[in-house]
Amino acid sequence: VVDIRKFYAQTGKFTYDPGFTSTASCESGLTYIDGDAGVLLHRGYPIDQLAEQSSFMEVAYLLLNHELPNKDELDKFTYTISRHTMLHEQLATFYRGFRRDAHPMAIMCGVVGALSAFYHDSTDITDPQQRMIASHRLIAKMPTIAAMAYKYSVGQPFLYPDNSLSYTGNFLRMTFGVPAEEYEVDPVIEAAMDKIFILHADHEQNASTSTVRLAGSSGANPFACIAAGIACLWGPAHGGANEAALNMLREIGHPDRIPEYIARAKNKDDPFRLMGFGHRVYKNFDPRAKVLSKAATEVLDKLGISDPVLDTARELERIALSDQYFIDKKLYPNVDFYSGVILSAIGFPTTMFTVLFALARTVGWVAQWNEMISDPDQKIGRPRQLYTGPTQRDYVPVGQR
Ligand code: ACO
Repeated sequence: VVDIRKFYAQTGKFTYDPGFTSTASCESGLTYIDGDAGVLLHRGYPIDQLAEQSSFMEVAYLLLNHELPNKDELDKFTYTISRHTMLHEQLATFYRGFRRDAHPMAIMCGVVGALSAFYHDSTDITDPQQRMIASHRLIAKMPTIAAMAYKYSVGQPFLYPDNSLSYTGNFLRMTFGVPAEEYEVDPVIEAAMDKIFILHADHEQNASTSTVRLAGSSGANPFACIAAGIACLWGPAHGGANEAALNMLREIGHPDRIPEYIARAKNKDDPFRLMGFGHRVYKNFDPRAKVLSKAATEVLDKLGISDPVLDTARELERIALSDQYFIDKKLYPNVDFYSGVILSAIGFPTTMFTVLFALARTVGWVAQWNEMISDPDQKIGRPRQLYTGPTQRDYVPVGQR
């Protein structure tokens, strides 16, 4: 009998690293994270500066093209994106095939995957120009796809894009506007939404980005790769956490009930976790959560909304951060903890939260995918395994078993 674990250990051929806690899967020049210091940089620029001072279109350009755009480059890029916001008319029939109460992430997975059936011309991944067109198409069409998923769920007619509006303004109009009425984009909501998009644009080799890269490493077309990323993002341990975090805060309902939930989170026999808390990489604080914590107060104040959920969130953060369990395990609020409070104030149902995350993360996904395909040393991703099944044995005919 061969002790396979011993064999692997002796030959030293494999690194066994479940969850990839210490294995780099690629080289990347997009995003730098120092989890101990709470630092997140996109091509060298701190996330808080980008969130406070730039726009989502600037960040998209930066991630795709390595440098921040000058005014002319930004105008051209924004124009190019606006030219791709329409969806093939036949895609509308896809929506009608879903149940009205389908989760919008299910719809998004299906519709984005189907894009490759409509845009054959940009599936030639060997041509850098076609890759860029596919990237622009994906960035441009995601708001339309997301807004249509929302409209379908509430039974309202789809709205065509209005390219005279900003990327984010256009998305808000397609989501909340109705054909019979003028829709005026509220600058407070537009700015908050744009900030949320910036904060979700990229985050190095997280599960969904690694999924996009792994799918892309086989030469799969970009639309299929992004659909794979969306599927991965949906999980409650990843992008689905913003929905779960707000649901949890609503369930807690009042700051008085927080100790009960803290006790549950600490109880090893209870699978419950504080949603929106903890991160694989950030072990000090999540810089995105800091920006959003401030933005939550600003947005609710400006909109004149008083939401008890925000009080519950603040109190939960205060209690958890002074609790020895959370201190020892280095668990801090992550980007998902406050984003839900803002999105809910804007008027999105919780089921749309992860959809908005996917919309923004598409920028990072396509930039990472382009970076990988452009690398001349790129290989198909093919992890090995540590085999734990039986050693070799002989087949026994069914009647003799
Ligand atoms: N509440 C309570 N305990 C927690 C939490 C939490 N939110 N997160 C981690 N822990 C505990 C675990 O029980 C574990 O305890 P143990 O060492 O006694 O077994 C320890 O902290 C380490 O947890 P792991 O799951 O091993 O840490 P990992 O780095 O694998 O997980 C993750 C990170 C998935 C984010 C985790 O913290 C979690 O489930 N958080 C809640 C979900 C969430 O908010 N996800 C969003 C992540 S950010 C994003 O995707 C954009």
